Amino acid sequence: METQESFIIEGLAGERKLTGEIKVGGAKNAVLKTLAGSVLFADEVSLERVPGIEDVSRMCEALEDLGAKIEKGETGKYKIKTDGINSSVITPAIAKKMRSSIVLTGPLIARFGSVSFPFPGGCVIGKRPIDIFLDAFKKMGAEVKEEDNNFTVTASGGKLHGAEIFLRLPSVTATETLMMAGVLATGTTVLKNVALEPEIASLGEFLNSCGAKIEGLGTPVITIEGGELLSGSEKTYLTPPDRIEAGSFVIMAALTAKDLKISDCDPSQMDALLESLISAGVNMEIGKDYVRVFDNENKTFSPVEIKTHEYPGFVTDLQAPMSIFLTQATGQSYIFETIYENRLNYLETISRFGARVRVLDSHRALIDGPEVLSGKEVESPDLRAGLAYVIAGLIASGQTIVHNVYYIDRGYEKLDERLRAIGAKIKRAPREA
Ligand code: EPU
Repeated sequence: METQESFIIEGLAGERKLTGEIKVGGAKNAVLKTLAGSVLFADEVSLERVPGIEDVSRMCEALEDLGAKIEKGETGKYKIKTDGINSSVITPAIAKKMRSSIVLTGPLIARFGSVSFPFPGGCVIGKRPIDIFLDAFKKMGAEVKEEDNNFTVTASGGKLHGAEIFLRLPSVTATETLMMAGVLATGTTVLKNVALEPEIASLGEFLNSCGAKIEGLGTPVITIEGGELLSGSEKTYLTPPDRIEAGSFVIMAALTAKDLKISDCDPSQMDALLESLISAGVNMEIGKDYVRVFDNENKTFSPVEIKTHEYPGFVTDLQAPMSIFLTQATGQSYIFETIYENRLNYLETISRFGARVRVLDSHRALIDGPEVLSGKEVESPDLRAGLAYVIAGLIASGQTIVHNVYYIDRGYEKLDERLRAIGAKIKRAPREA
């Protein structure tokens, strides 16, 4: 339920006080796809370490609306049965709440021969078209009809066939959607120029363990041999750790922590971020499944250049949190957002905190530091910018109020509780009129 809540943060005014350990949850952008992938199964699919975030609830809502049965255990254990699915019409009101509902289109058309869905809609970070999905479905033998921004995709003869598909851009969700479509198509599907984000291999490896025949995971060319419905018996999908959440906490720790261990994460998936922070002068210890950030009091950080890029480059989802770090580096830093067209809009709000920001165009900005930030009342426009405002509030002097916490809850489980446990002064409150 979308409620109007806010975070109220008492800033540390630059002091480094947070201590202890913060555990990273399961990856949003991995588990959402595996949930959608349950449509490829004849029997039950079990998932573990499912994060308690709003986007997971929305994906479950979409699956239940189609006819799936979902059992949610207490500790992130989910069981899903999709044999009762009796519709492949994704309800527009549900799809519009979450862009990633588009991932359901691949398994639905592959299993049922058709799917209807609305255009996922505009979004604060850019237009986010779906041409790559539609072109590929056509190559796999489907007809695409559009009426009033509603799409119906129908496979000729009720079944998609394999095809060779070159992705115009290495889109993450298009790669996952088409890979899943290929699992139940007839013949071989070859996807070229696919995205390399580790969540894709995580999904593919699970599907393979349940009977799919996918080769080339982790490389730019994936080949899928189509077959029968998958079987999840005795298999469990263990959601990998969320590299974006982990990275957000490492950035936060560099600015606010005395000694903080970010645990249950996979630093090997965070090279671009960790290298940037280390080159800026952040002291940290990197273990196999943790990053400990300590001894950064009285440090002068150097400015850095950030250019977002597909994996394993600097992930766009950490660009906004990283900008807060850059406000505290001494000198001029440069941000180049290459993935999305509107992912710098939040910088206007960062400058209200007192940061010296110069937006050069819709992709590039300069940040001069260090600058003392002062608390502000702000609206979270999306989950990553919202998290950036929380970090800004933590380092600022005085009080910060971040409204629209729903967006932050979409990707970060109980952020306020977890930050309080390491010493942050943050509380959740209903939005005051
Ligand atoms: N694009 C097209 N046509 C398409 C598909 C994509 O032009 O048919 C463009 C997009 O507009 C964008 C670029 O391709 O400019 C790359 O977007 P991509 O499709 O890779 O993004 P996505 O799959 O929609 C996922 C994550 C995003 C993350 C991006 C990039 C999920 C659910 N979402 O989105 O995560 O930013 O990959 O890594 O996996 C977030 O978690 O905050 C988030 C937005």
